[in-house]
Amino acid sequence: MFNKRIKIKELLNTAPQEQQVTVMGWVRTFRNNQFVALNDGSTNNNLQIVLELGKHDEELLKRITTSASLKVTGTLIESLGKGQKVEVKAEAVEILGDSDAEKYPLQPKKHSLEFLREKAHLRFRTNTFSSVFRVRHSLAFATHKFFNDKGFFYLHTPIITASDAEGAGETFRVSTLPFDNPPRAEDGSINYSEDFFGRATNLTVSGQLEGELGATALGEVYTFGPTFRAENSNTARHLAEFWMIEPEMAFCDLEDNANLAEEFIQYIIRYAMEHNADDLEFLRQRLLEEEKSKPQTERNELDLLQKLQLVVDNKFERITYTEAIDILLQSNHYKKKKFQYDVSWGIDMQSEHERYLVEKHFKKPVIVTGYPKEIKAFYMRQNEDGKTVAAMDILAPGIGEIVGGSQREERYDKLVERMKEMHVPVDELWWYLDTRRFGTVPHAGFGLGFERMVQFVTGMGNIRDVIPFPRTPKNAEF
Ligand code: 4AD
Ligand code: MG
Repeated sequence: MFNKRIKIKELLNTAPQEQQVTVMGWVRTFRNNQFVALNDGSTNNNLQIVLELGKHDEELLKRITTSASLKVTGTLIESLGKGQKVEVKAEAVEILGDSDAEKYPLQPKKHSLEFLREKAHLRFRTNTFSSVFRVRHSLAFATHKFFNDKGFFYLHTPIITASDAEGAGETFRVSTLPFDNPPRAEDGSINYSEDFFGRATNLTVSGQLEGELGATALGEVYTFGPTFRAENSNTARHLAEFWMIEPEMAFCDLEDNANLAEEFIQYIIRYAMEHNADDLEFLRQRLLEEEKSKPQTERNELDLLQKLQLVVDNKFERITYTEAIDILLQSNHYKKKKFQYDVSWGIDMQSEHERYLVEKHFKKPVIVTGYPKEIKAFYMRQNEDGKTVAAMDILAPGIGEIVGGSQREERYDKLVERMKEMHVPVDELWWYLDTRRFGTVPHAGFGLGFERMVQFVTGMGNIRDVIPFPRTPKNAEF
């Protein structure tokens, strides 16, 4: 049977009693024709394989090159070497797949993240990326566990929709019409009634509207799926395809919503700290190393694990948008004209403003509520002041906005009025409005950008390095 192998993660925690074991993996390094560092992806720690001198065929030894894949059978013994408790004394070594050392694109040395982005198909084989993607897995798994344990239902909302949930016009069109000669109506516009779905459709920007339909029957639901935005932002925080976690709760107001978001974020970080200690320790060191090249003032005061500990141990700060603007206006940073963009009540805060609040002022995550209605989506509940809505954004150190959410406008008339003001097609969203016509309830929800969360936990500076295959403007290789 081929799969009688033991994963290296398990072997490294097994008491050595000279038992026979079979391992398989990829060669990281091969020293002195004797010591193979083998990695199988189950952990960032390698297993040392010892080849007794003279015991193995010369031809075979030559084929043990970086990234060649091996099947090794041998005995598990206590290691006398530094850095590992056990090692395998090889009896039989089989090359499963050769790797031509001359042609293999990755050298057994440090490569820049930019270089590895060009080799995204192989970057999983590095310590950094295998750690990042194991942490990513844990955060995803913890997400399902958190909501399942709370009695939420995982709702699969559609990828292809005919609506624009955020009303921001950043959708990717889905169509099977010929680009060069689409059918046209008399006025020259494209006739989508001849398209695959008989209407214009696009990739979803958010599962929220459908989530609300689920919540107003099942009570508490969440989505966790890919979302797509054709925003031309070439930043370290934006992807054209990203994953979003969107819980939606009936019988819930903005404060309940903020409480849930805070508990959720702390839960999944704690889960990763418990289950990915080795990966996070590796990433902590990586970040310290990276920061050495930065001027002292730009380095973080806390290392990665200290930062995460601080976030799980402390309540998030809660302020209103109006208070946030006041803090910015009172800051020396503002007075010394160090912000690139101006500050006044009503602005959509730029990331420099958000980062000032969390990194310089509060030094921890901040939940900002009560934004001006003009800068927020049509579905947010209008406050009594007539100027603000029951919105909340959560801002995280080093990231900026990580969560966007709100209490929803459950009052039919107010919602329709707002949709008209914002030119959101009332007729097309008849199904959404039906929730407000038949048994409407106070409800709320939020969306957490999953990649931004992975960035926060792993300390990776660029969002392209926390999703296996990033989609960004002018880039869809792999
Ligand atoms: O603030 P947003 O646009 O909110 C919504 O989509 C709501 N429908 C969510 C809800 O209430 N159910 O997006 C939510 C989060 C942001 O806070 C950010 O973390 C992430 O999604 N996000 C992106 N992440 C990566 N790349 C992009 N282009 C992103 N746009 C938003
Ligand atoms: Mg937002």
